[in-house]
Amino acid sequence: MASEQGPHSRILGTGGYAPERVLTNRDLEKLVDTSDEWITERTGIKQRHVARPDETASDMALVAARRALEIARLDAADLDMIIVATISGDVPMPACAAYLQRKLGAGPVPSFDVSAACAGFLYAMSIADQFIRGGSHKRILIVGVELLSRLIDWQDRTTCVLFGDGAGAAVMGPATGDGRGIITTQLYTDAALAESLCIPAGGSREQITAESLNAKRDKVQMVGKDIFKAAVKNMSQASRAALDAAGMSADSVRWVVPHQANLRIISQIAERLDIALERFVINIERYGNTSSASIPIALDEAFRDGRIKPGDTVLMCALGAGISWGSALVRM
Ligand code: ACO
Repeated sequence: MASEQGPHSRILGTGGYAPERVLTNRDLEKLVDTSDEWITERTGIKQRHVARPDETASDMALVAARRALEIARLDAADLDMIIVATISGDVPMPACAAYLQRKLGAGPVPSFDVSAACAGFLYAMSIADQFIRGGSHKRILIVGVELLSRLIDWQDRTTCVLFGDGAGAAVMGPATGDGRGIITTQLYTDAALAESLCIPAGGSREQITAESLNAKRDKVQMVGKDIFKAAVKNMSQASRAALDAAGMSADSVRWVVPHQANLRIISQIAERLDIALERFVINIERYGNTSSASIPIALDEAFRDGRIKPGDTVLMCALGAGISWGSALVRM
């Protein structure tokens, strides 16, 4: 929660990136037993971006990061920490952030990944806020990047229609006392639904074998209905918690930038918070669910097209595997 002196850190610049290749619902009709009508009506998604075979998560993060640094008018050498929120990094070890540090040509600064799935960007923002607040670090790059097209079963219509690849970034720095910055972040995890959205094999519990590959246990498995209900309930609760912590009402929120998982989830959150859907930044129709990248991509688009203006109060909320969820209230 912000102290009486106001925010300690703020967003200095944002950047986004999505791979060039676009896969439409019509394209998916040729892959699985689905239809443009079903996908549009149930999710709001019309298309998603898919990375080139030679493209990695750190490649995508690099483009978004450079765009954010450009807006912040900073160089990679100015950064003193890099945090990457991802569950689809280049390799299981080392961190995607390490590859990003090298590609950016940043100094030998602490660079690490955060694993909180779709809520990851808000976790990264909260961690960066704490470091800046503590005074040990000043300029922190936070990135949400996912290359989920490599982690989904392209024969499973219940998941393959939902996700897309992309990256979004923000450079954070100290607040200047004008009221702009991170007002509060609220983070939660409750593993009661851990098995409702997971990749069962490939970790220390279940190694990848011919059998697990055959059963696609190295791909995303999801009980959509459970996650849907949890997303509506918990993203609304976290949003209210942020408003309460800041002593603000929903009326003072200019824009809501929600995680883009399903248009019906977003609509139900709008109803619960009593905030008009017109005040939500929505781009799910063009990107699908890009997990940790979805909030920073939407934030960046709304900045660049002038919807979000300096001084606007923006509420962000997300939920993903874990399940982990959270919110952030930011004066831009
Ligand atoms: N095309 C056509 N039919 C389909 C498809 C598809 N792509 N997928 C499922 N169906 C069928 C089902 O088999 C089912 O058929 P049946 O009634 O004969 O059994 C029917 O459609 C209804 O399926 P439901 O699962 O009940 O559909 P629902 O309305 O719950 O929508 C969806 C499914 C879109 C996955 C929804 O539950 C959802 O969005 N959940 C949130 C999941 C999510 O976004 N997870 C990502 C990460 S977490 C997060 O970001 C919040």
